[in-house]
Amino acid sequence: MSDTFNYYNKNSKSYFETTKNIIISDQIDKFLAYLVDEAGLIADLGCGSGNSLKYIIEKGYKAVGVDYSDELIGLAKNYTGVEIMNLNIEDAAAVNKFIIDNKIKHLFASASLLHMPKASFINFLNKIEFSGVFFFSLKEGEGEHVDSAGRFFAYYTRGEVEQLLNKKFIVLAFIKNEDRLGRGNNWISFIVRLSGRRG
Ligand SMILES: C[S@@+](CC[C@H](N)C(=O)[O-])C[C@H]1O[C@@H](n2cnc3c(N)ncnc32)[C@H](O)[C@@H]1O
Repeated sequence: MSDTFNYYNKNSKSYFETTKNIIISDQIDKFLAYLVDEAGLIADLGCGSGNSLKYIIEKGYKAVGVDYSDELIGLAKNYTGVEIMNLNIEDAAAVNKFIIDNKIKHLFASASLLHMPKASFINFLNKIEFSGVFFFSLKEGEGEHVDSAGRFFAYYTRGEVEQLLNKKFIVLAFIKNEDRLGRGNNWISFIVRLSGRRG
C-alpha cells in the first residue's frame, strides 16, 4: 500500500486524538442545510477519526463512515457508534457499488479526496453516481506534493475544480476557509449535486 495509507494506519492513535475534536461545523451545517427536505443515508468518505461523522449523527442524521485504514476504522467505530466500512475511495466503481448496495443518498468527503492523484480525482468525478448532495473539501494550491510525513496531497484552485465539475454537477455552494491547525494553507469546499439527477 502507499505511504499515505501507512501514515494513517501507523499513526492512527495520535491522528485520532489530534483530530477528533476538530469539527468543521460551519461547513457541515451548510451541507446539512441542503438536506432539509431530503432524508437519506449520508456516507462520510475518508472519515478518519469520525469527527464530522459524530457531529452529523448528533444532529439527528443517519450516516455511515468509510475509510481504508483498519486502525482508524476501529477507533472511529468506537467513537461514533455507527458502522464504518473499509473501502478504497480511489476506486470509483467500488464507491458506486457501495452507494447502491447501502442505499446511500448523500456524500461527505472532508479532506480525503485530496489524497488521490489528480487523474484519480478526475476519474472519481466522471464516474460517481448518487442522488443527493455531495460535500468535498480540498487544499487550495497547485500541483501534487508529498509532505514531510510521506503523505501525498493534490492541491486545487477554485477555477480548476469548477472546470472539472463541468456540466455533470451543479455547484450549490463554495466555501473557502483557513486551516484550523494553523498550517498556513486554505481549504476550498464545494457542495454539489448532479445536474441530471434521478433521485
Ligand atoms: C486528512 S484525513 C481526513 C479525515 C476526516 N475526514 C477529517 O476531515 O478530519 C484523510 C482520511 O482519508 C482516508 N483516506 C485517504 N485515502 C483514502 C482512500 N483511498 N480510501 C479510503 N480512505 C482514504 C485516510 O485514512 C484518512 O482517514
